[in-house]
Parts: sequence; structure tokens; C-alpha cells
Amino acid sequence: MRLSKTEKMMLEGCYGEACKRSLELIVAIAESYGCGELVKVKSAHVSGVSYKNIGDAGLEYIKDLAEGGAKARVRATMNPCGFDLDKPWLFDVDEAFFERQLEIIKSLEAIGIEPSLTCTPYYSGNKPRRGDHVAWAESSAAIYANSVIGAYTNRESGPSALAAAITGRAALTKDHTDERKPSVVVEVLAKVSDHSDWSLLGLVIGRLVPDESPFIKVKGRVRATDDELKCLSAGLGASSATSIFWTTGRDVQELQTSKHIAVTNNDLKSVREEWAPTKRPTVVFIGCPHCSLREIKEIAEKLKGRRVKKDVKLLISTSRSVYEKASKLGFLDVIERAGAYLVKDTCLVVSPMRLSRSDVVLTDSAKTAYYAETMTNATIALGSRRTCLEEALGM
Ligand code: F3S
Repeated sequence: MRLSKTEKMMLEGCYGEACKRSLELIVAIAESYGCGELVKVKSAHVSGVSYKNIGDAGLEYIKDLAEGGAKARVRATMNPCGFDLDKPWLFDVDEAFFERQLEIIKSLEAIGIEPSLTCTPYYSGNKPRRGDHVAWAESSAAIYANSVIGAYTNRESGPSALAAAITGRAALTKDHTDERKPSVVVEVLAKVSDHSDWSLLGLVIGRLVPDESPFIKVKGRVRATDDELKCLSAGLGASSATSIFWTTGRDVQELQTSKHIAVTNNDLKSVREEWAPTKRPTVVFIGCPHCSLREIKEIAEKLKGRRVKKDVKLLISTSRSVYEKASKLGFLDVIERAGAYLVKDTCLVVSPMRLSRSDVVLTDSAKTAYYAETMTNATIALGSRRTCLEEALGM
């Protein structure tokens, strides 16, 4: 492997033991992909922050790096943790979980990772420029960075993104070059309009072609919005290994593939039927990936002057930076007056919220439905955002 002088010095321990260990990890990953060299990255986004996901082993790993003097060489942000730091009581957090979660965040902060606690770092100031090389974990964010922003990133893991933050390097895979090209054309004949349609479309495409990089053409839509593509990225990341997609109205790549598939209304309908709402929800969850300010505004408009049913918990999750803006603009007040909770720092999937067999979770996110089904005993239902809000309000 061709290494720069600085990279060789990192491996010799000239920048400290933590930097040496981190670069060893990046080099091992690069070798496993057959890469001839590393790439300098401008930012990192670190997943594996919730104590629920990484447990004591993950906590010790991060603490060890922090105590070993590891320091981020590039701007880096954190994925969500297990609870809203200002509302831990909403997420059934016990004392041990609370303390260990704070220890993880404290150790990451000591390394220099910003406590953005969101899967949408691009709403929190960590937005690469088109063409930038970055090292992002969290599949929905990595896919969004490549496909919507036009950056270059591998689909990093929590440890590799942390190592990239510390070394400023990532494996120079195909994902960091213009060799990345669509390997299948997906003609979407199905009607997609709501957020849940876009996330479900991503999930369905991922199930149909899990190892391909799709070029997605949606009938009747020349250009989807960033919020819609954010939902598509999350669904696709949940069910496939891809790190990128292309779509019309964006950076259209030259198509060199003859492989075509179609996604019809029936394809979406059959998955929708797996999660068809049959009972009244006890929990309604919106905000996977975390809501943008525009989405919060739309939700606040729908909740204005209304009241969430007493036996329903309506959770709307977002990043702390969007939360602060929503607070200044009065949307937080409207949402709270309706009896709903605008939460930050976390989401249903990474929180330790205790959901029993008698709970029914209704969400508009196919990614949340997919993970919540495997991680909880609750009944999971997928509905449009409108259905979610109407069910929460008892309309
Ligand atoms: Fe984000 Fe949680 Fe969904 S981390 S993408 S809101 S599962």
C-alpha cells in the first residue's frame, strides 16, 4: 500500500498510540478492499453512539481512545444517542443506562467529536461540498451524502468513522472515485408522494437489488425534494449494501448497464400490507431520519389548535440544531401545546424505550418499521404522515 509520509509517521506512533491504532484499522479496511492507498477526508460522522447499540464493549473502546489522547484531525459529528438529553424520562432510561450514555458522549467529546446527536449532520453545519471526500457512518447519512450532496464517502461503520475522524483518512475505495456508476436502472411505476412512500420505495428497491447501485427513475417526477430523497436513502440503507443511488433531475450519470427492473404499485402494496395498521396506536413516531425544519413547520401547522389523544404518545424527532430553530420560530410551542413531544438527540430505534406486546407503534418510516419490528415486541404499523397525525389526534 502506498502511504504518505504523514501516514507512515502515524503508523510509527509519532502522533500517539491512539492515532496509530486508528490508522492501523483504516489500513486493514483498505487492504481488505484491495485499495492501493488512502484518501484524505474533510469530515467524519460517527455512528455507534447509543449505549443500547454498543454496550459496555463499545463504551470501553471509545473511553480507551479518549484516555489515550486521541484527537479528531477533521470536523466530526455524532449520530443519535439513547435519549433526549433534556427529556430522558420519555425513553424509559434507567440510572445505569443514563450514566453510561453520558460517559460515551463525554469520551467522544474529549476526542473532539461534536455532540450533534443526529443522523442528519447536514442540517447541523456538517454539510460537505459537492466533490468533498468525507468518512460518514450511518447508512442513511452516507447514502444521502453521496447521492444528494454529491460528496464521496464509503459507507463507514462506527469504529471506522471514528478512526477516520482521528486520522483524517479513509480507505480509497471505488466510492471515493468516479468509477462509481449505476449498475441497474430502476423504473418506478408506483405512485410515490408521501414521506412513507419514499422510505418504503427505498426499502423495496434495496430488497429487490441489495448489491446494486441503482439509477432510480420515478414516473411523473423529474426531481424529488431533498426531504423525499432523505427518506429514500434511509429505506435503501436498511435493506441493501449500496452506498449510493442516482435519480433524475440530479447528477445523472452515464448509464452503462443494460440491467433494468421495475417497481410497481403492487410491490409497495405487498410490503405495506405486512405493516398495515389494524389497531389503534399507543405510540406514533415521526422523524426517521430526523425531521428538517420544513417538516417540523408542516407538522406544527397540522397540530395547531388540536390535541393528541390521552392514550397516545406522539414523538417527533429531530436534530438539536433544528430543534433550536423550531423553538425560536414558535413551532415547538405549537407542538407541545397539542400534547406531542418534539424530541432531539435520539430516535425510537436507538432508545431503550420499553415497548410491550400490547403496544402498537405507528410510524411513517419504513426504516423504523423494519428495525422496530426486530428489536421490540410491539405491533408495528406503517402509515402516511397524514395517517400518523390523524391517528394521534383521534380524527
Ligand atoms: Fe436516524 Fe434513528 Fe432513523 S438514527 S435514520 S432516526 S433509525
